[in-house]
Amino acid sequence: MANILITGSSGFIGSFLVEEALRKNFNVYAGVRKSSSRVYLQDPRIRFAEIDFTDKNQIKQYLLDQQKAGVKFDYIIHNAGLTKARKKEDFYAVNCTFTRNFIEALIEAGCVPLKFVYISSLAAYGPGDPVSMKPVMLDDKPKPVDEYGRSKLEAEKFLTSLTDFPWLIIRPSGVYGPREKDYFVYFQTISRGMEPYIGYKPQILTFIYVRDLVRLILDAAVSGIVRKAYFITDGKQYDSREFAEITKKHLHKKTLKITLPLGLVGGVAMTLEKIFGIGGKMPTLNTDKFNIMKSTNWTCQVDELQRDFSFRADYDLDKGVKEALEWYKKEGWL
Ligand SMILES: NC(=O)c1ccc[n+]([C@@H]2O[C@H](COP(=O)([O-])OP(=O)(O)OC[C@H]3O[C@@H](n4cnc5c(N)ncnc54)[C@H](OP(=O)(O)O)[C@@H]3O)[C@@H](O)[C@H]2O)c1
Repeated sequence: MANILITGSSGFIGSFLVEEALRKNFNVYAGVRKSSSRVYLQDPRIRFAEIDFTDKNQIKQYLLDQQKAGVKFDYIIHNAGLTKARKKEDFYAVNCTFTRNFIEALIEAGCVPLKFVYISSLAAYGPGDPVSMKPVMLDDKPKPVDEYGRSKLEAEKFLTSLTDFPWLIIRPSGVYGPREKDYFVYFQTISRGMEPYIGYKPQILTFIYVRDLVRLILDAAVSGIVRKAYFITDGKQYDSREFAEITKKHLHKKTLKITLPLGLVGGVAMTLEKIFGIGGKMPTLNTDKFNIMKSTNWTCQVDELQRDFSFRADYDLDKGVKEALEWYKKEGWL
């Protein structure tokens, strides 16, 4: 049985990666912090790997200790990442510097795996052109519109500079499903009878259901393909109004549509950022968030997934939202 290390196992995507890897009979090492929740990591087959990515030497020591104990990680999914931060520098520390520390430690300890899959994001490339509405292509020049995306791109640049290291970059678009907390806020808003829009032009969105995503990541990890990057969606595009319709249908809710003008939201975001900035904090509504919300084209090239991994999503938005909402209801979140 091959050994797989999955960092960020306590999080939304990480916990599903762990379940899928167990289902595929890997020896699973769940990368966590001391403070990480283990609520979704209860399977007794899981071994835990507490790694502190702040210090390259500590990572190296951990890898050498594992080696001494006869453990070598055949596959590594580096999924740990910061999607929200109080300070912009935190994005670079976690998403970029920690990734670099980890890879350098693997190389220096002589513990390079067969594959190192880095979970990046469509945000590293940013949205597509709002006029032509052409999807973002794999050979386009990246144009991230927020600090999170820029930090992911920075990490990608480090990875792609390594010509001998077996990296693979996965850039999911919006990931949703059970346990997820950001789209959940939207579902909750709809469930409370409100249907918010920002700006009058609909957004064209792309999604991937978490179960499809983790299946693809593990197939990509064990494939013979290295040193390539992929955008990941379910292969479809959705208008923001369609997202609302699907959600309302499965929640059996009628809503009040509220459209906030772009200028107003942008102004509020800027003001909040200035006020909170004095105390060194980042408000929930900030200019980065606004840049994401005002972008109307979140489509990207995904045809290579079918060609390289025979990937076809089992879930479209209708099926995925239905299953996710059932889970939120069952767990008492909704
Ligand atoms: N969700 C999406 O729509 C989406 C889309 C594209 C890409 N991604 C990427 O997918 C990955 C997982 O995202 P997610 O949505 O599952 O987020 P999540 O639920 O917030 O999980 C993030 C994971 O990263 C770990 N982590 C954060 N800071 C860390 C640090 N300083 N040291 C070690 N571990 C740390 C967290 O551990 P703790 O539990 O200890 O905090 C957690 O396990 C991220 O790299 C993210 O950028 C997500």
